[in-house]
Amino acid sequence: MAEVKSTNIVWHQHTVNRAAREQKFGHRGCTLWFTGLSGSGKSTLANALDEALCARSARSYVLDGDNVRHGLTKDLGFGPADRTENIRRIGEVARLFTDAGVINATAFISPYREDRDRARALQQAGDFLEVYVKASVEVCEGRDVKGLYGKARSGELKEFTGVSAPYEEPLNPEIIVDTGIQSVEESLAVIVGYLERHGYLSA
Ligand SMILES: Nc1ncnc2c1ncn2[C@@H]1O[C@H](COP(=O)(O)OP(=O)(O)O)[C@@H](O)[C@H]1O
Ligand SMILES: [Mg+2]
Repeated sequence: MAEVKSTNIVWHQHTVNRAAREQKFGHRGCTLWFTGLSGSGKSTLANALDEALCARSARSYVLDGDNVRHGLTKDLGFGPADRTENIRRIGEVARLFTDAGVINATAFISPYREDRDRARALQQAGDFLEVYVKASVEVCEGRDVKGLYGKARSGELKEFTGVSAPYEEPLNPEIIVDTGIQSVEESLAVIVGYLERHGYLSA
């Protein structure tokens, strides 16, 4: 957990609030928290969702693993404590985007259940949707989009999720997409369908 170092800070209530933003935008803000193995399809689906939302003039944004690690969390590695801090920061940023009325997607392996639950706990009920991007290690390794599984098997890459580090499956995700059998379009339709059915987005 991050150490609290700031004292004497007072919350400033700004006049444009979330409800006002959402009314202007015509949709609800929320976080779609994509979780799954490397190569399961988190980035692909977050990107496809972003495209679909942008085409409908919805406010959307993607926080993607490697991109965020270039800046916001570049001081962090892949050991358990650093992964936890990585997810904590992303969770805080996602919460801010939701408060801004934006439909935001995060694409991080986020292998630990406790870390994901902590990110969920930062937001109000219904604002955090866990999307389990389900694909077996075999499927992901067969894709090996970034050539990382090869390096993990040879030992060049340590603490690689699914090979030499654990992945804890979501117990109760709002959305499950099975990318081992679905096409990108089919998985996207499952996600957009959920948003429409649950009133995040009008159909
Ligand atoms: N239903 C699907 N959803 C997402 N990606 C899929 C699907 N079916 C096949 N793929 C392929 O799987 C790969 C997923 O890679 P990527 O999105 O980079 O994974 P991650 O971000 O989870 O590491 C891509 O090459 C993508 O085209
Ligand atoms: Mg990715």
